[in-house]
Amino acid sequence: MEQMKVHPELNPFKPEIVEEPYEMHEKIREAGVVRIDDGRFLITRFEDVDFVLRRDDLFANVPKTLEQLSLEANHAVEEFREMPEIASARETGALPSSDPPEHTEYRKMMGPKLSARGLTWFEPKVEEIIDNLIDAFIDDGTVELSSQFATPMTVYVFVRLLGIEDQDIPRMKIWVDDTIESMSAAVGMLDSIRMKELELSRKEFMNFLMELVEQRRKEPKDDLLTFIINHELDAFKRPLHEQELQGMLTTLLMGGTETTLNMICSGMWLLLKHPETMEEIQKDFSLIPQFVEEALRIESPVQALARQAIKDTEIDGVLIPKGSLLWVMYAAANRDPNHWKQPDDFNIHRTELQQTMAFGRYVHYCIGAPLARMEGRVAFTSLLNRLANIRFSDKNEFTHGASHVIRGFKEMWLNFEKKV
Ligand code: HEM
Repeated sequence: MEQMKVHPELNPFKPEIVEEPYEMHEKIREAGVVRIDDGRFLITRFEDVDFVLRRDDLFANVPKTLEQLSLEANHAVEEFREMPEIASARETGALPSSDPPEHTEYRKMMGPKLSARGLTWFEPKVEEIIDNLIDAFIDDGTVELSSQFATPMTVYVFVRLLGIEDQDIPRMKIWVDDTIESMSAAVGMLDSIRMKELELSRKEFMNFLMELVEQRRKEPKDDLLTFIINHELDAFKRPLHEQELQGMLTTLLMGGTETTLNMICSGMWLLLKHPETMEEIQKDFSLIPQFVEEALRIESPVQALARQAIKDTEIDGVLIPKGSLLWVMYAAANRDPNHWKQPDDFNIHRTELQQTMAFGRYVHYCIGAPLARMEGRVAFTSLLNRLANIRFSDKNEFTHGASHVIRGFKEMWLNFEKKV
């Protein structure tokens, strides 16, 4: 087995790398399984990422497993505990941080509702949400796509999917923005006053959702929220308890907002950078799903997530000691030249598009993938149907958010004409 070398120079988490990560990903991929300090490993090759995701018996993404590992506190374990995305998803009911049998039950419950077939009823509603958002800016000839379109789109989609009423939505959006801010801000970036405000906002938001839960208990409706409240988990012969309900709602919201909005902004950026593709799609809208898929591959909104080694394990000839933290880098796997032909080229006609790692794989495969794909298809169809001559405005700085987990532009200003 290969002697473990430490490669501090191959650290993709430095702020300057977060802006332009792909060259660094390439160097790491070439080096193989890389250890950047005494507890963290980077997994970047397509086959290795596939292995880690497949072998959930060897690699956990559940913090409670750390106790089961009975490790001495070490650097990796501490970091895993502190990660905001782990900390905020620690409630039970949160799909990414639960294990079988609970995880299996939650997936059985939500999977059919969020499948392409289960969402058929919802597509006209998504179209309506999107058209209303476009109506609000179409006469201006200019739009900031993230805050005026993509972010509200994901929030309205979440609330409408659950069956939440219109009058509650403005309050809801503030809570969602706050939740996203607290999730994606790099640790230590927020001052303590803002941290407290965000914490309060999160509690208020949860209270609001739980009030709605109470209302639905008294007055059930034919909607997803009522279904989530009443559904009996097969294995336990009981519905979700309060904490599970909170966890489920929080992860559906967090999983579905920032990711999807970044897909929209990066997708538009890619289209404007590739006018030949834009032209092709304008002539044939049936290419939009392929375009969305390729955008997700080349600019993956979820760049990386963590796993923890449950046992000593070998990957690609490198020993990963039990307890180590592994960063599974979906974005790097999505550009691995051993898997993709000319991976840095944006090409919507790739034959291997379905193999994307953008939504992960296996047990924790993104349960929202069909919804995200539908939102992408409907959003680009409506935008390209209604706006002509879309171009970047000169207000753009094209800078990305500071997170190494979620990749997305801070702003995306566009100018356009209204199609008549
Ligand atoms: C473009 C949009 C999206 C991207 C790129 C994305 C990406 C991902 C990825 C990579 C994972 C796998 C995590 C892992 O390996 O541990 C995941 C899981 C998950 N996603 Fe998404 N996601 C998107 C949209 C959504 C939407 C719309 C929802 C909500 C309906 C959602 C809810 C979830 C949930 C609940 C999980 C956890 C599943 C589990 O652990 O069983 N995601 N997502």
